[in-house]
Amino acid sequence: MYSELVSHRVTADDIRRRNPSAVILSGGPASVYADGAPRVDPAIFELGVPTLGICYGMQLMAQELGGRVDRTGLAEFGKAELAGARGRLFDGIPDALTVWMSHRDSVVAAPTGATVVAGSPSTPIAAFEDHARSLYGVQFHPEVVHTEHGQELLKNFLYEIAGASPAWTPAAVIEEQIERIRAQVGTDKVICGLSGGVDSSVAALLVYKAIGEQLTCVFVDHGMMRKDEAEQVVQTFGEHFHVPLVHVDAKDRFLEKLAGVTDPETKRKIIGEEFIRVFEVEAEKVGDAKWLVQGTLYSDVIESGGEDGVAETIKSHHNVGGLPDDMEMGLVEPLRMLFKDEVRRVGEELGMAERMVWRQPFPGPGLAIRIIGDVTADRLEALREADAILQEEVRRAGLYRELWQSFAVLPAIRSVGVQGDSRTYGYPIVIRAVTSDDAMTADWARLPYDLIELVSNRIVNEIPAVNRVVLDVTSKPPATIEWE
Ligand code: XMP
Repeated sequence: MYSELVSHRVTADDIRRRNPSAVILSGGPASVYADGAPRVDPAIFELGVPTLGICYGMQLMAQELGGRVDRTGLAEFGKAELAGARGRLFDGIPDALTVWMSHRDSVVAAPTGATVVAGSPSTPIAAFEDHARSLYGVQFHPEVVHTEHGQELLKNFLYEIAGASPAWTPAAVIEEQIERIRAQVGTDKVICGLSGGVDSSVAALLVYKAIGEQLTCVFVDHGMMRKDEAEQVVQTFGEHFHVPLVHVDAKDRFLEKLAGVTDPETKRKIIGEEFIRVFEVEAEKVGDAKWLVQGTLYSDVIESGGEDGVAETIKSHHNVGGLPDDMEMGLVEPLRMLFKDEVRRVGEELGMAERMVWRQPFPGPGLAIRIIGDVTADRLEALREADAILQEEVRRAGLYRELWQSFAVLPAIRSVGVQGDSRTYGYPIVIRAVTSDDAMTADWARLPYDLIELVSNRIVNEIPAVNRVVLDVTSKPPATIEWE
């Protein structure tokens, strides 16, 4: 389903112009009756566009439409049992079900003309419907996995009530983007910086599909990638898909620049700047390229404050390490309307290997920020091997996709060990594995002991420079996912 996230400040006229099948008002932490609480243009409810309010969104509807919201003293956080569920939202769903709630305030009077269609012991008005005006509200969160039949409820709303059809498929996205890209760039030359990550890879393939040899991909190998990753990029793009590819082996150059540097921010800066420098030289060689492909995602657009600045600015996003403003090239951003899971599905549809499409996120500065201390060829080698062992065993255990990230870190300290009959003085390797939905928060993954044992044994046995393996058991916050 194609969807756009807009600010609560959007006007009814804006919405009419966008001509949506449906509107969903999301949840939020405020109290609807508090000063400065986010409100919506009440004329939105007069548009006749099917509207579903979730949690705060439901309470806002109640408040605006003649109902009432109050703090009843009966907060619900977590599981709640819904009873007597009926009506169009709950069509085909059992009348008793477990849902996920997170609220202190409750709707104590439904909007004028609306019917209460579900309640929980502490929230008698847990859902309401007004067919005549096509307005619907639920206090619980149908979008979270812990709510039973949540997806069915959303399908009822979107497909049955709003009459939308699930036509936003990877194939449809690809076709639409191909047309857009062709219209945008015409016969101009286009270049794309490949990083080996999912986003830039899918973006590059989409553009290649649209304009073929007008595209040149530039892959700057900074030598900070995981084992075999650079070869995979060359194989996939150059050999398999036959995309014109410039492979710049800049390993030595980056290592030289990083020599003796221990400060994390300085490392990032050096790598970012060097990347740009190398990229610019190659772009120049391609000659009069007018367009640059970037793998910007919809989540980046939202985080950067949205196109019209309506979303709150969470952080300024710089893709590909922030290319300079004076490059004077237009941007081609074929993934701008997609979320990560959609990008992966588009990648699969384009024929990319499962291994590339489902790759865990990897930071631009790569292994350089996973060596705590200065980066040397030996340390890189040890870390790369340790990381490869961890990846291999995590995959073998079937856990790779369940984890947001799993990787090795090499703090450049040494400790004493004993191997064979001799004393060793080697590096430790830290295993960092986390679960997360969006990297904003994360929890350390409870990896099976057998897996940890296997990884630990293999790392100390197979990598001479390492004699100790430790496990990072810190969530984010207070730690970050990466160590630098
Ligand atoms: P932290 O360490 O801040 O990381 O919890 C959050 C997520 O961002 C990734 N990360 C980066 N990605 N360039 C990137 O493209 C970077 O410089 C960078 N630093 C961190 C990190 O791997 C995690 O997924």
